[in-house]
Amino acid sequence: MKKLTDILSEKIGAAFAGLDLPQELGEVRFSDRPDLAQFQCNGAMAAAKQAGRAPRDIATDIIAKIDKGDLIETLDIAGPGFINISLTQNALQNYVNTEIAGLGAALPENGQTIVLDYGGPNVGKPMHVGHLRSAIIGDTLRRILSFAGYKTLGDVHMGDWGTQMGMILMELKHQYPDWPYFDADFTGPYPEESPLSINDFEQIYPKASKACKEDEARAEEARAATVELQNKRAGYYALWQHFMDVSIAAMKENYAALNVYFDLWKGESDVHDLIEPMVAQLKKDGHAVKDEGALVIKVARNDDTKKFPPLILYKKDGAVMYGTTDMATLVERMNLYAPDKVVYIVDQRQHLHFEQVFRAAKQSNIVPQKVELTHAGFGTMNGTDGKPFKTREGGVMKLEDLIDMAFQKASAKIDAVNPESDFSDEEKNAIANAVGIAAIKFADLQNPRQTDYVFDLDKLVSFEGKTGPYILYQIVRIKSMLRKAGGFQKTDFTVDDNTQNLALLLAQFPNVIDGVVQGYTPHILCDFVYKLAQEFGRFYAANPILVEKDEAKRNAYLSVCAILEDTLSKCMELMGIDIPERM
Ligand code: ARG
Repeated sequence: MKKLTDILSEKIGAAFAGLDLPQELGEVRFSDRPDLAQFQCNGAMAAAKQAGRAPRDIATDIIAKIDKGDLIETLDIAGPGFINISLTQNALQNYVNTEIAGLGAALPENGQTIVLDYGGPNVGKPMHVGHLRSAIIGDTLRRILSFAGYKTLGDVHMGDWGTQMGMILMELKHQYPDWPYFDADFTGPYPEESPLSINDFEQIYPKASKACKEDEARAEEARAATVELQNKRAGYYALWQHFMDVSIAAMKENYAALNVYFDLWKGESDVHDLIEPMVAQLKKDGHAVKDEGALVIKVARNDDTKKFPPLILYKKDGAVMYGTTDMATLVERMNLYAPDKVVYIVDQRQHLHFEQVFRAAKQSNIVPQKVELTHAGFGTMNGTDGKPFKTREGGVMKLEDLIDMAFQKASAKIDAVNPESDFSDEEKNAIANAVGIAAIKFADLQNPRQTDYVFDLDKLVSFEGKTGPYILYQIVRIKSMLRKAGGFQKTDFTVDDNTQNLALLLAQFPNVIDGVVQGYTPHILCDFVYKLAQEFGRFYAANPILVEKDEAKRNAYLSVCAILEDTLSKCMELMGIDIPERM
């Protein structure tokens, strides 16, 4: 998938070089104003500064040097010295047919491995909407990166080893003191079946947390139980394993509902045994030092403009910290997968934590310098009141409740749009499910990752505007038209005045994928799909395809629609959004 902009940049760059100007100034990009120009090169401005000449003069010289060949239709100078470029319809058509049509297959492998960390649910606590953004953005990045040629590994990285575990264990001990799990003399075997279901577990954490808040003795007991669990006390460990099984089953259901997939079901507990040797080595190499009773790695640098507190490995009381586990997880990831990149798709509010971990990991060579560590942070999902999204009662919204709310809204919407539909209940439910999930996922993905956004379900399920359901609706329309057309003679993409804008948009696909990969920014793909769906809407309104008398033209336009359907569907697949046959 060679980019059109690269092909043009080479040509224009050569003209710059031919005038003894830096070749890279010939960089060409898709124009921000497609109504004025297809492509633009702004290099004459910078060149003018260097050469001490007027930018328009330089632009004139550049244009004179370019052999348009079969590729370029027009070259113009606009404003202070922008070079506007448009392609011949022939060149555009060739490009779309050779590079874009049939893009279903992933790009060739690039030999690079990337670990993506986008789960982070905490065992024992219900999954909430805070985990939603990680999952949606992370899984989409995994799909796009693997399409782009990376070997990807998505890790759920559960919070399964923290004090919440000790809190829950002790709450259960108070409720069921006779359970064998709490009897230090019990020699086993422990029951195979979990004594509690996921619903029971969900009741326990709030109680445990309340007890520990109100009573310091309970909090202390929970901390001690956490340490005992971490030392694998048999009964605690056996009960913890039940927890894990039951929780993981529930998490898997939640993630499956969102079409989110993980390659690795690992958690903080998996690296527990790596901590001690890691810390010993860090001490030996002088990276870990004592600081006010704690053991830390100092990560501040002289040129820092903000305060960088040290990364704490062991607290005064000997407890390990969030950062310790993240360091040990990097040890494990380097050992097992030797990735070229590790990306954390985690709330932006944890940014300082990740900067500390990354610095500590590089300073100590736990991670080689050339490996790229990135915190791809995201903003908060707010309610319509502008505050972090909550239930009506002000509690934390559970993920499955949110999904159900979207389903209900989508279902009502489908009824409103198709008052006389012949959908069976089963089909309608399937459609409402697809529409609800599309609404949630697209809403989350289309915002620039770092910005906060307002979660307004009524808007998100709308079939109009920049929403998931709107995109689905356009795709379903194309599908329905292709069905109605029955068999037709498939042709290549034909570029004429009616299809030119569509072709130009399609031609941006490689740039779009590259943009997402460079910045871990899926919203670029959403922008693209939205523009493409809108452009299809215009094309469809202006050209009554099914009733077209000229058979060659009808075939050509139906073929254009088929290529559009492929591209739009591919994009949705890259976001893990399913498309119904009808809606
Ligand atoms: N469990 C954490 C939380 O709920 C998120 C973990 C993110 N990943 C990581 N490697 N730190 O906040």
